[in-house]
Amino acid sequence: MLQVDSINVLYGRLQVLWNVSCDVSAHQFVTILGPNGAGKTTLLKTISGLLKPASGSITFEGEELSGLAPYKICEKGLVQVPEGRKIFAGMTVKENLEMGAYLPSSRKHFAESLAKVYSLFPILKERQNQLAGTLSGGQQQQLAIGRGLMQRPKLLMLDEPTLGLSPKLAAEALHTLKVLNETGITILLVSQEVLQSLQIAEYAYVLENGKIALSGTSAELLENTDIKKSYLGL
Ligand SMILES: Nc1ncnc2c1ncn2[C@@H]1O[C@H](COP(=O)(O)OP(=O)(O)O)[C@@H](O)[C@H]1O
Ligand SMILES: [Mg+2]
Repeated sequence: MLQVDSINVLYGRLQVLWNVSCDVSAHQFVTILGPNGAGKTTLLKTISGLLKPASGSITFEGEELSGLAPYKICEKGLVQVPEGRKIFAGMTVKENLEMGAYLPSSRKHFAESLAKVYSLFPILKERQNQLAGTLSGGQQQQLAIGRGLMQRPKLLMLDEPTLGLSPKLAAEALHTLKVLNETGITILLVSQEVLQSLQIAEYAYVLENGKIALSGTSAELLENTDIKKSYLGL
């Protein structure tokens, strides 16, 4: 479904991604792991079209994405839930969800999408008229995911959705992603929760210093000695 082929990405003269390749198949749950500063956010932003690769190609359902405006990419069903949630704090919960369905392709299905989001996250329905900035961290994360769902994603990319959440809320957020995946949404999850992410994802890539250091099925990586030593403290 998504094919990232040997992309190089720079900020000015600073190269951050080096020949990065990764694939996501339809309906798969894939995770990208790696320490702070590895380039995970840069990779997602490049897939979303917010950054342009200096070389390499990115295709989605067989179509080349490089050169397309971010909103065009979003319209194809490739949706990013940004790091740090980036909800609109001064707008209500419902207005935030309306922003998620801003593009005409998703606005048509607004009522149906809203009902789905509210059934997945009942607290958002209860708080629909409350200012989003007054929600708790866990609720804000639900809102950020809900806003992404309003765009009717085929592939949902999430950038560290568990950051700053308690272990219990983080586990709940990851479980929600598993449920979404089972409803047919393909998931690309960027995470520093290595153990938990490997437990729910089918396939994983490890990004270190802008390069794919390792990849494999989650079962393979859970058995990998480097992963055990560097990431799982075993
Ligand atoms: N806008 C930017 N301008 C210059 N350098 C940046 C910018 N954003 C990120 N970087 C640098 O790129 C590298 C990768 O960052 P990032 O993709 O945010 O990593 P991660 O998400 O894995 O923590 C870091 O060294 C970071 O300092
Ligand atoms: Mg990041």
